[in-house]
Amino acid sequence: MITIIGAGRVGSAAAFNILRYRISDVVLIDVFENLAKGEALDMMQTAPALEFDGKIVGTSDYSQMRDSELVIITAGEARKPGMTRLDLIKKNAGIVKSIVHEVAKYAPNCKIMMVTNPVDVMTYVAYKESGFKRNSVFGMGNILDTLRFRSYIALELKVSREDIRALAIGEHGDSMVPLTEYASVAGIPITRLLSKEQIEKIINMTITSGAEVISLKGSTVHAPAAAIAIMADAILRGRNRVMGVSTYLQGEYGFSDVAIGVPVVLGRNGVEKILELELLPETRKRLEKSVAIVREAISKLEEA
Ligand code: NAI
Repeated sequence: MITIIGAGRVGSAAAFNILRYRISDVVLIDVFENLAKGEALDMMQTAPALEFDGKIVGTSDYSQMRDSELVIITAGEARKPGMTRLDLIKKNAGIVKSIVHEVAKYAPNCKIMMVTNPVDVMTYVAYKESGFKRNSVFGMGNILDTLRFRSYIALELKVSREDIRALAIGEHGDSMVPLTEYASVAGIPITRLLSKEQIEKIINMTITSGAEVISLKGSTVHAPAAAIAIMADAILRGRNRVMGVSTYLQGEYGFSDVAIGVPVVLGRNGVEKILELELLPETRKRLEKSVAIVREAISKLEEA
């Protein structure tokens, strides 16, 4: 069973994907009980049309998550006028800490997938606060960056998105690191098909596309919900899929005591393995910058 905490835009859309693709039953928890209940009812009534039988419960009662295999945390606030990025971090860290205590109480053997932003910092907070093993606490961000990266490579080459294989690592934010050297079209390295300028344009679009969606419609919903479902599927079905996942590092890539996106094998136990790839010198520099940005945010949080 999967529990999703936060029945807002991303949480409810993720719940719908998980049910629709028959990945698992879902418990949807929100402080606004009516929102969680209403979303659950709406999805239950969709089931006959889309032919899924999974159970969906909407509630504000944390004990309903008991024995969940995976708990996905999407609860949190978005930045309000007058609020700094740091204010938001502190506010969401408080929410995440209180939720993680409930998770540790009711589902001590689960895996925790953080979604709340800034996701790398919140993954760090969830890992420290839960006392769980590090493979059990990870964040969704890079897989979404990768979906965007793949979309823009396909658009530039005018080929099917399905044939693009790619990875993005680093912070889920402006300093993300799309791995040009490992992106391919049906196995053909993109560097053989695209110029440096075209690749730079694709990277810029990948980095700015989340903000573009937010400026157009207020939030990103469908792509994050799809990314959450991809990770949930890898875990619940033990598929050992390879993707960028925010993970607490203990020396990998030369970094310790920070959570940041790295390529991993994601399966039944969460992060089954971290893949340490050789990186081009300029990619390495980008990753170092990305780690520094996440570290800075973590240190501010710890000062508070
Ligand atoms: P939203 O405002 O629609 O939903 C958040 C929900 O959390 C609300 O329904 C609220 O009542 C609930 N909530 C707040 N505190 C709670 C608590 N203590 N327990 C249970 N529920 C609680 O926001 P949206 O658009 O769904 O985004 C959620 C989070 O996900 C944000 O932090 C956003 O930045 C982040 N996000 C992360 C992405 C990623 O790639 N990691 C992608 C998209 C969004």
